[in-house]
Amino acid sequence: MTQIDLSTSGLTVPLSSGEVYFNYCWLRDACPSCIDSQTRERIFDVASLPDLPRPLSARLENDALVIDWKTENQVSHIPLALLESFATRGRTEDPAGISPKLWYSDQAPHFARVPQHAVLSDPDARAQLTHALIEDGIAIVTDMAGDDDSLPRLVEMIGSITPSAEGLFFDVRVEIEPTNLAFTAGPLEMHTDLPGEEAAPGVQFLHCIENTVEGGLSLFLDGAAVAEALREEDPESFRLLADNKIPFFYRHDNWDYRAHQRVIETDADGRVTGVTISQHLQDAMDLPQDLLDSYYPAFIKFLKMMQEDRFLVRFRSEAGNCVIFDNHRIVHGREGYVADSGKRHLRGCYTDRGALRSTYRVLAKQGYSGRTFSEASRQSA
Ligand SMILES: [Fe+2]
Repeated sequence: MTQIDLSTSGLTVPLSSGEVYFNYCWLRDACPSCIDSQTRERIFDVASLPDLPRPLSARLENDALVIDWKTENQVSHIPLALLESFATRGRTEDPAGISPKLWYSDQAPHFARVPQHAVLSDPDARAQLTHALIEDGIAIVTDMAGDDDSLPRLVEMIGSITPSAEGLFFDVRVEIEPTNLAFTAGPLEMHTDLPGEEAAPGVQFLHCIENTVEGGLSLFLDGAAVAEALREEDPESFRLLADNKIPFFYRHDNWDYRAHQRVIETDADGRVTGVTISQHLQDAMDLPQDLLDSYYPAFIKFLKMMQEDRFLVRFRSEAGNCVIFDNHRIVHGREGYVADSGKRHLRGCYTDRGALRSTYRVLAKQGYSGRTFSEASRQSA
């Protein structure tokens, strides 16, 4: 047993990484008794105490920091593993906190491919699929059943369907009165979907039902890889695209969505978390005109990089396959095709990134990490 010295607002614990300071309010909130074992929700309110929590004494005992509180009749046993986690990561351990693996034009053979029947029946296959979607941002489900419920059955393995202006599902095929360029036979420039929505859809499913046309190759790239390449080659352009928001829309007879987005999304640590790009849904830039003097060249440079062969993966969408990808990271497009050369029909829908990570965490806690598959597929490719 080791006694711990007390300071005014917190105490310092000797951990594997050295002496680490913890605030008393944080420690009181970290007491395991704060969480109800049945609902797993927080039942302690730190604001309910008459004064800020202060300890009478603190000691290390077995694998816990034991605090006898002066301000209430309570002894907390805080696991040292929790303190170690915060000392090393600054947050609780997250099985879904998988670092993205940036990929380039040679990636197509390395995309995870999992048959639909395995996703539906085997938690290990679901772990493989969801792990790949977090790490690579893209995966392919093969051997999709041909019935109308095939796509929703697959989506529900990952999360609830997120509706968009088009409803729960959208069909990508030639339409007489198209509401979107996707519903024509023309080429579709590299884009992320629906940036005009307040929160653009997180994860996109594109189920290829039929494809017998000439042309119409599907195009994908890792927007995070392009953004990192821009940061390396032109840091000032990267900063302009990461710091400023530009307007997007989605308009038709019955809707008028508008939202401002950053073209390059970064987290608090400056890491790239995604990109937003869509020339066909981009509104007139409303940044100050003198800022546009430097913003436009950076923006155009980024758009041109998205056409470079070093980043682009091209493949033919095969009937029976469903491509799933992170709509905030993976940028997609399509080459034009000859409309009367055959039929091309893709059905799509969305779920969100939070649902994807939630599903992966539950599987990981059950012992299905999907990591073995990821490593094996990379080594064999
Ligand atoms: Fe799209």
